[in-house]
Amino acid sequence: MASPNNDENNNEMVVTPWEVKGKVDYERLIREFGTQPLTPELLAKLETYTNKLHLQIERRIFFSHRDVDTVLKLYEQGIKFVLYTGRGPSGPVHIGHLIPWIFTRHLQEKFKTRLYFQMTDDEKFLIDDQRTLADTQKWSYENALDLIAVGFKPEDTFIIYDSQDMDLLYDITLEVAKRITYSTARSTFGFQDSTNIGWVYWPAIQAAPCFIHKKLTGENVPALIPAAIDQDPYWRVTRDIAQKLGYYKPAQIHCRFLPGLGAGGKMSASMPETSIFTIDPPDVVKKKIWNAFTGGKGTAAEQRKLGADPTVCSIFQYYFFLFEESNEKLAERERKCRSGETLCGECKKDIAEKLNQFLEAHRERREKAKDTIEQYHVKRK
Ligand code: TYM
Repeated sequence: MASPNNDENNNEMVVTPWEVKGKVDYERLIREFGTQPLTPELLAKLETYTNKLHLQIERRIFFSHRDVDTVLKLYEQGIKFVLYTGRGPSGPVHIGHLIPWIFTRHLQEKFKTRLYFQMTDDEKFLIDDQRTLADTQKWSYENALDLIAVGFKPEDTFIIYDSQDMDLLYDITLEVAKRITYSTARSTFGFQDSTNIGWVYWPAIQAAPCFIHKKLTGENVPALIPAAIDQDPYWRVTRDIAQKLGYYKPAQIHCRFLPGLGAGGKMSASMPETSIFTIDPPDVVKKKIWNAFTGGKGTAAEQRKLGADPTVCSIFQYYFFLFEESNEKLAERERKCRSGETLCGECKKDIAEKLNQFLEAHRERREKAKDTIEQYHVKRK
């Protein structure tokens, strides 16, 4: 897939909706994107609604936001919010995609609020020269099964399949598109002369679900968007025009990227050998994990003597993000890694088992979702 601002010779950090490369410096992103860090005061407030902070917040996997404070203030005044997130269905879902969805489900449960979920089959068709619309439509269905398997309830979850449901969004996209200049879009997204015009219009389509709740219900409430920080450029342009259209600015809460199994870089479907997909069979998972990059030493003897480095280890990150909920056990794992008491093979074997158990349960729920998927479609409501 070509990125509109792809510069092959540059190893600098790049974080765009289409490309993430280099070592991601999250503090720098907060500064450059103009977002806010999650402060202790804000987290204390959030905790009053969620009883206990979600692990992803506690560990600052979600680390940055815009207007979550405003959304909570409005909530206190009786103005609810809706959740909005989405997926570009270009292939199978990997476990990195599940990170923001798991947190979104937590918010939905705690705040008893609606989720609008956009399946952007049109986006993935437009940005990839090789792809057919039939292909992205097929993946929309497959990916929706994964979303449902995360545990969203049909009564509160509204999936919008862009190419089927564009009639619901179209007038909103027009209002949005009319107010964003080409110059703003080009500087935000890096469009070039060779970028196709579908792609140039595209940001208006990703903006539209921020505002759809009013159209469907008459209620004007803000949208809160949980997603990784790669999606942020969309919200910058959307926030600029929201109030001109009589809506609240959409709020965001941003997460970090689950790394791939290689040395650095996010888990990305374009690198299947370093990604764990929800449909990967157990032996494939084992094999990918076995080949994963760790912070280990060249030989077992050396590692027993000198210890390993969990800070660069992809496997350790999987415990941190998803597979070790106990902070004490995580600290113990880290200590044993650093001291050389545990070797990489043991961690790999253990994480492969945990992953396979997790995926097996996910796939059971995914299979059941085939019976209920229609109930989630925005048009069946
Ligand atoms: P997509 O399909 O690239 O990604 C879906 C969601 O997964 C997040 N994500 C990750 N999170 C953690 N670790 C990773 N390694 C990782 N890789 C991807 C993304 O940030 C996203 O939240 N254009 C969008 C689809 C979309 C959307 C939205 C996403 C439409 N409306 C609203 C978020 C919110 C896309 O292609 O996402």
